[in-house]
Amino acid sequence: MPDSMAKQLAGKTALVTGAGRGIGQGIAVVLASRGAAIAVSDITEAACAETVALIKSNGGSAIATVADVTSQDSMNAATERVLSEFGHMDIAVANAGVIGAPGYEDRLTYTEADWEMTYRVNVKGLSHTADAVIPHMKERRAGRIIVIASHGGRPPRGIKQRPGTVSMPYSTSKAAAIQFAHALAIDLALHNINVNCVCPGTLWTPMWEKIAVNTVRHDPALSGLKPRDVFARAIKASTPLGRGQTPEDIGRVVAFFASDDASEITGQALNVNGGAVMS
Ligand SMILES: NC(=O)c1ccc[n+]([C@@H]2O[C@H](COP(=O)([O-])OP(=O)(O)OC[C@H]3O[C@@H](n4cnc5c(N)ncnc54)[C@H](O)[C@@H]3O)[C@@H](O)[C@H]2O)c1
Repeated sequence: MPDSMAKQLAGKTALVTGAGRGIGQGIAVVLASRGAAIAVSDITEAACAETVALIKSNGGSAIATVADVTSQDSMNAATERVLSEFGHMDIAVANAGVIGAPGYEDRLTYTEADWEMTYRVNVKGLSHTADAVIPHMKERRAGRIIVIASHGGRPPRGIKQRPGTVSMPYSTSKAAAIQFAHALAIDLALHNINVNCVCPGTLWTPMWEKIAVNTVRHDPALSGLKPRDVFARAIKASTPLGRGQTPEDIGRVVAFFASDDASEITGQALNVNGGAVMS
């Protein structure tokens, strides 16, 4: 496997939500390449299939676990399935997220549906994922929960790069995700369960494509640009290292938080964003 730390997570198992594509897929692939058996979780079987096939084609171990993070019952059932397949769960990565409600690309200002959907998926989805796995982790007095938030949940850097307010529910939900990780870390520390948070910066995934399409539609100065060019401009304007991140960049940091090297780290939120936001 093309990873120099192939043994780092040998014998471990991990559930990754929203793992059918984008960042979740990158996380699942990296954790698998380091020896963990992966429960690839996403909202449909079809969404899970590509990542499962990718991991298996690299010689890794993976199962599909269809689940909707907005439902506690669904996450409980997914956890039961992982435990019956793998026998135990060491790592849960709460990655599934949405930028807004359907039609986000067309809107300049947020709607009630944007607030509802970002709250249900990006905030309640975290507690549903955590609450499903916590009883098992408490019983074993071991576990790692890793929340994927965003540097968009940090205090803004003061540059308004996009028109309108349609992204406000998303940023608010990601600030909540960071705070959720802090609060959960305190609750679970006595049970020897570490909770940390990764705040990705700017990655070209279907999510960022929606942001770029929205930006082109509403900023007259950018009319005629391709969404990918808007993405490149956003990075140039905001990122000291001058490049976007890849899903595997995020996966490697998640692997670190999941590893024995991070056993004394809990309640931390780490930007992986090329320096775009430094707090
Ligand atoms: N792309 C970026 O630049 C960026 C930056 C910072 C943070 N993030 C965060 O990283 C995470 C992944 O983002 P991405 O860019 O890969 O997004 P994406 O839209 O490409 O993928 C999101 C995945 O989550 C799944 N999902 C959505 N709703 C779900 C639900 N109710 N239950 C289960 N799965 C569900 C989707 O099916 C999809 O596979 C999100 O939490 C996002 O907020 C992304």
